[in-house]
Amino acid sequence: MKILAIESSCDETAAAVVEDGRKVLSNVVNSQIEIHKKYGGVVPEIASRAHTEALCPVVSGALEEAGLTLEKIDALAVTYTPGLVGALLAGVSFAKGLSLASGLPLIPVNHMRGHIAALYPAHPELEPPFFALVLSGGHTEIVKVNGYTSFELLGATADDAAGECFDKTARVLGIGYPGGKELDMLSGSGNARNCPLPPPIIKSSEFDFSFSGLKTAVINLVHNAEQKNEVPDKADVAAGFTKAVCAGIEDRMTNLFDRYEVKKLGLVGGVAANSSVRKTLDAICRKRGAEFFVPPVSLCGDNGAMIGAQAYYEYLDGNLADGALNAVPSGEL
Ligand code: KG4
Ligand code: ZN
Repeated sequence: MKILAIESSCDETAAAVVEDGRKVLSNVVNSQIEIHKKYGGVVPEIASRAHTEALCPVVSGALEEAGLTLEKIDALAVTYTPGLVGALLAGVSFAKGLSLASGLPLIPVNHMRGHIAALYPAHPELEPPFFALVLSGGHTEIVKVNGYTSFELLGATADDAAGECFDKTARVLGIGYPGGKELDMLSGSGNARNCPLPPPIIKSSEFDFSFSGLKTAVINLVHNAEQKNEVPDKADVAAGFTKAVCAGIEDRMTNLFDRYEVKKLGLVGGVAANSSVRKTLDAICRKRGAEFFVPPVSLCGDNGAMIGAQAYYEYLDGNLADGALNAVPSGEL
């Protein structure tokens, strides 16, 4: 079954054709980073307008890259939650229109389920149940994946998301926007011992995170140095920050392994592209005898392929949308 999937929940307009949830026939991502860069963050109204402009060429591009016409597509899919409401609406309205015009069924997909489904094309053997650590720009979650459409949220962040904290730290250091990738590269040449920072966890809980303390600690560290007319070494700050994030993740994962029989663990979301986070998860899985799964970097950030992958399983579960489908900015898993 070939599904044409559309994603527009934040600042990427994306479309893909995915066969049977596992085979990516095309994957086109049009990023708005250049547009939002000068504002230092995503401007929702500008994002909605940019999606509206990009949807047609991106969807046509996905069909073209797959070498298919709409007649060869079996169903459409679209992200309807969670995300920026105007951005989601652009994709949902487009998909509803295309469904009406073509007569193809429309599958509604939750963006966070999509991030988890990014594991399926890369790991054809992976089937639920498994555990997933979801680290994205807007969410930080520890999830028990009981089935393809059955999820249990074990832990989340009390405040900022992991990606948000990476981006804020990159901004304070003046190393670019959104900055997670740059911070990742910079941290390799720094010495973490010169910048000890607190791990982003809530000590009184087993699985919850809190990134606001770490964010404030980075801001204070940089400001204190500036007040003494010193320039903190950016690579050292990046290394200290990364070490703190990885220590926090290791602590939460240790609790997870102690509490549950974890045989398979997946790492997904934009921050899953981080080289140190990948190494940390790989190491703990080796130590505890679990299999570690992570998508290729190209499927970590927002994309249409992950939506097409999840859509297949939503379809098998009978989850179809009608003309009443609406954008839901803060939907649960
Ligand atoms: O999942 P995603 O594409 O968007 C949301 O659904 O929110 O995640 C985007 C986030 C951004 O904060 C970006 O800086 C971060 O992923 N990111 C990284 C890396 N590459 C992207 N963070 C750390 N290290 C990276 N290599
Ligand atoms: Zn995302």
